[in-house]
Amino acid sequence: MREMAAQARTEGSPLRLAVLDGSWAPAIAALQNAAIGDRMYPVNGGQIAEMLGPRGLTVGALASDRLVGFFSLLFPGRQPESMGLPFGLVEEELDAVVHWTAVIVDPAFRGQRLQQRLVAAVDWRLFPQSPHDYGFVTVRADNPPSLRSMLACGFAMVWAAPKFDGHLRHTLFRITPGDGEIPDGGEMVALMDLRRQLELMARGWIGWPQGAAAGHVRFAPPVPGCLVDRIRARTRSG
Ligand SMILES: CC(C)(COP(=O)(O)OP(=O)(O)OC[C@H]1O[C@@H](n2cnc3c(N)ncnc32)[C@H](O)[C@@H]1OP(=O)(O)O)[C@@H](O)C(=O)NCCC(=O)NCCS
Repeated sequence: MREMAAQARTEGSPLRLAVLDGSWAPAIAALQNAAIGDRMYPVNGGQIAEMLGPRGLTVGALASDRLVGFFSLLFPGRQPESMGLPFGLVEEELDAVVHWTAVIVDPAFRGQRLQQRLVAAVDWRLFPQSPHDYGFVTVRADNPPSLRSMLACGFAMVWAAPKFDGHLRHTLFRITPGDGEIPDGGEMVALMDLRRQLELMARGWIGWPQGAAAGHVRFAPPVPGCLVDRIRARTRSG
């Protein structure tokens, strides 16, 4: 287990953040069994191994040495399951795709934005040489804490559709500083007003992480030429 340089970001809490290795697989499975709830699609043993292996990255929150939260990324590369493919990404762009795969916080430790802190702790490790990466995540439309956390982590809502688990899920795309200008204005939409969100996304608007009021998301059209605009011009099937 490698201690994280980002440990200072735990902001005085007794929790310790660390990158987890394969020996943590049983603890991850146990936390999932105890705390997954009904809004996340479970990860199986093979996926847990991937999350802890060379194609993944998992950061855990430890209280003493007990796992009380984790957050995992997968790097699909040019594999067919890349969420970059339906967005029209190609070749070396696919090498910079990251899937936000799983996140669970022990109920006793919820309410202190631990998901955001876990994400922030790994942020600096992602493609440090590139001006932007292509971070994707899907979140069930009826999972407000995870949607709020993802927006707070810089993800924008770009599309919503029924996904592999039969539930309507938002696809969110991570906005990074190299991606271009953030538009002003637009329309504040309630976090759970999916009907209005779908109308606006069908017009090409996206729900920006910046400027959201409590319980709301700010929808606005992307500035022409910015990364999201360029990607969405390729395809809307994502
Ligand atoms: C999703 C999860 C990891 C978030 O845990 P957490 O980091 O402790 O989240 P918090 O309780 O601090 O809440 C995060 C945000 O959601 C908001 N929130 C929490 N519950 C909410 C609710 N029922 N309705 C609306 N907003 C809610 C919080 O106010 C906070 O927003 P803010 O930062 O703007 O104040 C945790 O709920 C969990 O483990 N759920 C089960 C597994 C799961 O669903 N994972 C997500 C799969 S995509």
